[in-house]
Amino acid sequence: MIDLQLTEKTHDEARQGEALVIDAPEQRNGKKLYIESYGCQMNFADSEIVASILKEDGFTTTGDYKEADVVFINTCSIRENAEQRVRNRLSQFGAEKRRNPKLIVGVLGCMAERLKAKFMEEEKLVDVVVGPDAYRDLPQLLSQAEDGSKAINVLLSREETYADISPVRLNGNGITAFISIMRGCDNMCSFCVVPFTRGRERSRDPYSILAEAQDLYERGYKEVTLLGQNVDSYKWKGADAEEGAPIEVNFAQLLEKVALVSPELRIRFSTSHPKDITDEVLYTIAKYDNICNYIHLPVQSGSSRVLELMNRTYTREWYINRIDAVKRIIPGCAISSDIIAGFCTETEEEHQETLSMMDYVGYDFAFTFSYSERPGTMAARKLTDDIPEEVKKRRLSEILVKQQEWSLRRLQQQVGKTVRILVEGFSKKSDQDYCGRNDQNAMVVFPATKNISPGQYVNVYIERCTSATLLGRLAE
Ligand code: SAH
Ligand code: SF4
Ligand code: F3S
Repeated sequence: MIDLQLTEKTHDEARQGEALVIDAPEQRNGKKLYIESYGCQMNFADSEIVASILKEDGFTTTGDYKEADVVFINTCSIRENAEQRVRNRLSQFGAEKRRNPKLIVGVLGCMAERLKAKFMEEEKLVDVVVGPDAYRDLPQLLSQAEDGSKAINVLLSREETYADISPVRLNGNGITAFISIMRGCDNMCSFCVVPFTRGRERSRDPYSILAEAQDLYERGYKEVTLLGQNVDSYKWKGADAEEGAPIEVNFAQLLEKVALVSPELRIRFSTSHPKDITDEVLYTIAKYDNICNYIHLPVQSGSSRVLELMNRTYTREWYINRIDAVKRIIPGCAISSDIIAGFCTETEEEHQETLSMMDYVGYDFAFTFSYSERPGTMAARKLTDDIPEEVKKRRLSEILVKQQEWSLRRLQQQVGKTVRILVEGFSKKSDQDYCGRNDQNAMVVFPATKNISPGQYVNVYIERCTSATLLGRLAE
């Protein structure tokens, strides 16, 4: 899970550069892979697919790039600083390559897709460049690189969902896992590079999703997070597994099917899009106890004019209507957001509208960013990035301060209550304490006891909180 922190961090920065390790496979080729991931949860899920493909090819993985034969970096392009971080890391791998010229360095993911062959010109040490839809080609690309030639495949696909590949769960806790339910994005928000790096939207076959959830549950997992850039537009058309009749499955129906795997398996999902989230989805969440009462519903801006420039295709009023529906249909549901400060031409009044929207919703959490122009996007082509850096920074810090207040307030509402949590493991700070999340996705920390182990659901009485964590003790 990404850590919910209150800085200008998100999907890419909050979980940057984690190395991933898997167990030794049966059929080894003696080669070791090191893979490091940046970006959103989907990129982390993709690294698990990559590891699975190379495991089949005989690779083992290592957590130390200095002993690897192949080093992969799965990259993110969402903002300029995300790309800068990758380049810095590559220069460290460059030093290793000078020491060990046989080392193969591969760039995967969104930066590979955005820059294509240019990447190899810009970064001489890179041997392999592979886009998000071409991972099946990795064994062949690697053998090409071993023969001394540079290898690239950045073809995007309209069909690839890696549905048949069972991801190797990397460095996980054995309790929570991601399941990708779709790939790509068709939305074309004007600031966003994702449609260019991930291609067209496509939904994965629900039977393979259900099989993956069932398999995880049988292996002791207790929580799955269904992933897509816009889960509410999930739509699969195909033949019914039993009768062969043509059927259509939407996101609400998929949620329900996954919830029915077991009442003991918690379901989360991300990301919801305000234009597509339906009451049917909300009623499905309300109907099943094991679908968590937590929705990540990024607003981006509180101003209808800015939203239009962003091509988000909803207005402030539409967003408020969706929030009202969430609060009506799922009382107590936690809501989080993504917010961009200082988008092209944003006025001071429009920034105030974002702040007033935050007060209207009372977000439990928000990822906040200052606008970063991305080459090739509609905003880069048609609009001027005209808000001075210091104004963006000031607006961002006002957003951050407001969010900090709301996060604290929302957590304070839990103090004095008993909440059910899924124990994930020891807390980051102490191995005397366990941590886990409640239904609303808040992190709860409490003293560990011998009779409790990770993977169990327990009731915790909340005694106090910080702006990021609830602290308590086991309830009788
Ligand atoms: N599919 C998700 C978002 C994925 S990207 C959605 O539609 O909500 C995650 C977040 O990064 C976005 O919600 C947005 O807030 C932020 N982001 C994307 N492009 C950005 C840019 N060019 N500058 C600043 N923030 C950006
Ligand atoms: Fe980007 Fe918009 Fe698609 Fe989200 S919905 S990935 S912000 S284009
Ligand atoms: Fe980054 Fe690509 Fe995800 S740009 S946020 S890794 S889809």
